[in-house]
Amino acid sequence: MTGWFDERSGLRGTVALITGGAGGLGEAIARDLAANGVRTAVIDIDAAAVAALTRSFAEGGHDLIAHHGDARDPEALEALFTAADARWGRLDTLVNVVGGTFRAPFTETTPKGWDALLRTNLLHVLHACSLAADRMRAGGRGGSIINLTTIEAHRAAPGYAVYAAAKAAVEQFARTLAVELAPDGVRVNNIAPDYTPTPNLTRLSRGANALDTPAGARAAIPMGRTGRLTDISNCAVFLASALSSYVTGGTLHPDGGTHASAGWLNWPDSGWSNHIPASVLALLDREGTADPRA
Ligand SMILES: NC(=O)c1ccc[n+]([C@@H]2O[C@H](COP(=O)([O-])OP(=O)(O)OC[C@H]3O[C@@H](n4cnc5c(N)ncnc54)[C@H](O)[C@@H]3O)[C@@H](O)[C@H]2O)c1
Repeated sequence: MTGWFDERSGLRGTVALITGGAGGLGEAIARDLAANGVRTAVIDIDAAAVAALTRSFAEGGHDLIAHHGDARDPEALEALFTAADARWGRLDTLVNVVGGTFRAPFTETTPKGWDALLRTNLLHVLHACSLAADRMRAGGRGGSIINLTTIEAHRAAPGYAVYAAAKAAVEQFARTLAVELAPDGVRVNNIAPDYTPTPNLTRLSRGANALDTPAGARAAIPMGRTGRLTDISNCAVFLASALSSYVTGGTLHPDGGTHASAGWLNWPDSGWSNHIPASVLALLDREGTADPRA
């Protein structure tokens, strides 16, 4: 007997291709899709993560194609699509997860760095979407394309200018593609997380970050905690499923409310404010850490 979710979602037996699907948010998405009977094809640059996912999916009895490769390489991407064609002969969902950044003021970055950020965050998305759109159209069953973007595509992101611009380009590209593909029933949507600790992210040194403390998270995130992998993968399951069959050209914001609050912080003593309370400035002043230019 199948349950309400199985019937309404229509996921069982469908095929999803996930870039960056063996680690971090991509792995969470691959696992949750597989748990709902989706056959998954992933490409990931981390060989150990690919091997671990292959073992674990085999133990769980999940149908998986896992390629070790670089999603920025058009030939490697195409090889995964071709392998999925050969094994399953259909494609229902594409999840573009691969992305990343480094921190530097824009004026200290170079064309080499900009090129790397555009390749990592934008160009492979175009390539994967073009490979997927042809297949989804030809299949005649529609489809769902999902891009992992970021809250930084929706606000200024000092130190991350080109990353934010590339992710904003993905969002805008998705809107147009959604309209172009709508007559074929192919939907295109984005998921824009805020800080969601993943193994790779927590390995990066980000300096003292109060977000990692309960008090810091309560101040900066309306829901009072940082993101969990399932906060994001649940959104991907929804967008891949027929539960979202009339949703296209949009963005989900699984961020505990930071996109909505747009810079308003819940200061421990004084409550919501979009500027530093005088009491905090006075404290910094006493410690000698307030702005020396003041
Ligand atoms: N984690 C967060 O807090 C967060 C917040 C906002 C947006 N995002 C976005 O979500 C996506 C995933 O983030 P994450 O934290 O899971 O990242 P991650 O660094 O853990 O990467 C996810 C997977 O992608 C693989 N990968 C990286 N580069 C690849 C490449 N060129 N080819 C193939 N595989 C590659 C990694 O090996 C990893 O298994 C990114 O696009 C990121 O910009 C993440």
